[in-house]
Amino acid sequence: MADINVEEVLQKLTVAEKVDLLAGTDFWHTKSLPKHGIPALRLSDGPNGVRGTKFFNGIRAACFPCGTSLGSTFNRTLLEEAGKKMGEEAKLKGAHVILGPTINIQRSPLGGRGFESIGEDPVLAGEGAAALVRGIQSTGVQATAKHYVGNDQEHKRNAVQSIITDRALREIYALAFQICIRDSSPGAIMTGYNGVNGTYCSENPKLLEQLLRGEWGWKGLVMSDWFGTYSTTDAALAGLDLEMPGPPRFRGEALLHNVSTDKVREHILDERVRAVLNLVKSCAASGVPENAEEKTGDTPETAELLRRIGNEGIVLLKNEKGVLPLKKDKKTVVIGPNAKVATYHGGGSASLAAYYAVTPFDGISSKLQTPPEYSIGAQSHKLLPLLGNVLKTPSGEAGMLMKVYNEDPSDVNRACLDEVVVAKTELLLVDYYNTKLKSATWYADFEGTFVAEEDREWEMSLIVQGTAKLFVNGELVVDNTENQTKGDAFFGMATIEEKGRVHLKKGVTYNVKVEFGSAPTSTLSEGGVVFGGGCLRMGGTAIIDPKEEIAKAAALAKDADQVIVCAGLNADWETEGNDRDSMDLPGYLDEMIAAVADANPNTVVVMQSGTPVTMPWIEKVPALVQAWYGGNETGNSIADIVFGDANPSGKLSLSFPVRLQDNPAYFNIRAEGGRTLYGEDVYVGYRYYEYIDRPVLFPFGHGLSYTSFEFSDLSVEEKDGKVSVKVSVKNTGDRKGAEVVQVYVAPRQKAKINRPFKEMKGFEKVELEAGESKGVTVEVETKYAVSYWDEERSKWCAEKGEYDVVVSNSSAAKEGQTLKGSISVGQTFWWTGL
Ligand code: BGC
Repeated sequence: MADINVEEVLQKLTVAEKVDLLAGTDFWHTKSLPKHGIPALRLSDGPNGVRGTKFFNGIRAACFPCGTSLGSTFNRTLLEEAGKKMGEEAKLKGAHVILGPTINIQRSPLGGRGFESIGEDPVLAGEGAAALVRGIQSTGVQATAKHYVGNDQEHKRNAVQSIITDRALREIYALAFQICIRDSSPGAIMTGYNGVNGTYCSENPKLLEQLLRGEWGWKGLVMSDWFGTYSTTDAALAGLDLEMPGPPRFRGEALLHNVSTDKVREHILDERVRAVLNLVKSCAASGVPENAEEKTGDTPETAELLRRIGNEGIVLLKNEKGVLPLKKDKKTVVIGPNAKVATYHGGGSASLAAYYAVTPFDGISSKLQTPPEYSIGAQSHKLLPLLGNVLKTPSGEAGMLMKVYNEDPSDVNRACLDEVVVAKTELLLVDYYNTKLKSATWYADFEGTFVAEEDREWEMSLIVQGTAKLFVNGELVVDNTENQTKGDAFFGMATIEEKGRVHLKKGVTYNVKVEFGSAPTSTLSEGGVVFGGGCLRMGGTAIIDPKEEIAKAAALAKDADQVIVCAGLNADWETEGNDRDSMDLPGYLDEMIAAVADANPNTVVVMQSGTPVTMPWIEKVPALVQAWYGGNETGNSIADIVFGDANPSGKLSLSFPVRLQDNPAYFNIRAEGGRTLYGEDVYVGYRYYEYIDRPVLFPFGHGLSYTSFEFSDLSVEEKDGKVSVKVSVKNTGDRKGAEVVQVYVAPRQKAKINRPFKEMKGFEKVELEAGESKGVTVEVETKYAVSYWDEERSKWCAEKGEYDVVVSNSSAAKEGQTLKGSISVGQTFWWTGL
């Protein structure tokens, strides 16, 4: 890709060519103008890997741990390394721009995309994102910080107005973007689907022209979220450069016309085009050719890095009586629904087909002489587990064989147009293309076989946009063709999960066949957006007796020296397009964990979730590990931590409340009357729990280690607009480990307005050998350390007075576990910008 001279090219373009550059041409590409040396750019999700250009049977890729795990590393250097690897993965996928990182804020534990975002604190989110962006952009690939701004829930995500005070917007939600821009200059920013205070983000001049470009002086490209451009003129005038995806709904002819009538003046059009050309120019450094073939790059180095990142994100929440690390020579059993599936990513656009994904069971087994005994204990699915996990195609591959036709199954002479093996039986067919298809209405059969392991009743299911029927050995078990009802899956485009039952006999081979009709065959009355072929999800599992299963698990646990319970959620519970209804674990998991812990005092719970869950059994369980969705290496990382091959050093990137009701957004986590009120204002997460003295299950910044640390010799100095915090950290235990120095600032006097008691302003991770001490320095600009947003002046205010500087290893560290210094601001001053 050749470099371009932006101003020269701009002068040569016709108005029609300029307009063409301002929207995508398909789902993942921008317009090329070869005559002017402008290539098409390829954009690809983000934020925990690079998926490439296909939802349907996409290329395999490196899956990184989810955002909350990345945040929990509290390690900028490591995140920069992660970003660099993401950039390299983008190059393999022929992508010039990564659609990530995500830096929305988890104001409620229920947010469907909470797992994607880095954390509840804007300094952690902003600095963490900046490190990722620096890493990505060091490869020449450009990053996209998203979704700007106040896009913190999924309910009515395309319509909701987030009602946020200017102060909360500046001190929490926009601050994450401000810091990211300050420290990394991302090439692009994606607007949220939502609006803020009455104006949609993608056409909001206050957010785009005034704040991003005016006050912050940022020079990158603003793109809409997918189908998140809602107007022609307003969006163009407000500063939206690129409508995605294409073909455009609001640009093209419509924009051309509006330019001809001066509704959008040509100099404004030029501003938008300049941003696109600048991005094209920045991407030249990546060396990625236009429309490149997508490749895989599954190397030992990638695996090693993913494992290291996974290990550092895991948080040891509780460890009593030295239960952890477990001993490799003791009788170990594994229990729980998350053990034998790799729950490695959350749902929606963050999901991707990993090169491979290690299950916790396999990771744990690799540490032991003989594989541990296992029992599921309880099921935890929301949707039935994917059938592809148990089926084999006629030629013996994992999954089902898809055969594509123009005609429906009643045509006995129909010709098969394509055969594809689908391992994952959850198919978004938006981008299934086949030139032999005569129309948008087409058909496919899916087939696979399996041998029943027990005499049991099974439940099978279908979710579809289109129509589908499922047969087992020729018998119709699920019919999802008539009386269809709209559900939440597939971004709300498809039906609810329709189920049917069938009795299976041990040892018998069963053939499962699904007949599918593409999207136009749907009988859903409120169809929503239809793109491409539609979607299909095929699930099934044996029906178990919950009480029996719990008793079985408890008996197995009783007979062991140590027990690992693998519990949690998955990509169906935590997904784009849908918030959770409750913070509780699903099904009988709570009862099962309590029963197993009662049966064996050496029980460790490994929790896989991207956001908090309630833990009514916490007092019974001596050891608890928060393992998130850990990417390709999720099972190995869990095993490394549990058996002590890695010493945990993660710190919670968000508070875990005791009950959902304790969360300050409890009243306001749904769109009501078209809006969601951010009623907790700046008191998000720990800022709230500390202010009203409400106990949490585990606080922001908390995380244990297998060694111990001591902080001493604090010095705090304020000079030349910078606060410099120096502290000595000693590893007082007997093994190597890493600790995070967290620096909080607390105003001593009552300010003109109420403020959180303290807020994190900086952090630094340090690795130490047993017995070793190191000096750690954290530097923060004074204005960032002390200011609040003054709504009377629309400026940041650094108020005259004394400020405590609290250094600790958790937001909730007690007196005695913290060191305290102070700084003073001699004269009140106001500021704006970066
Ligand atoms: C998501 C974005 C994503 C885009 C493209 C949207 O639904 O909100 O985060 O980048 O799709 O997949």
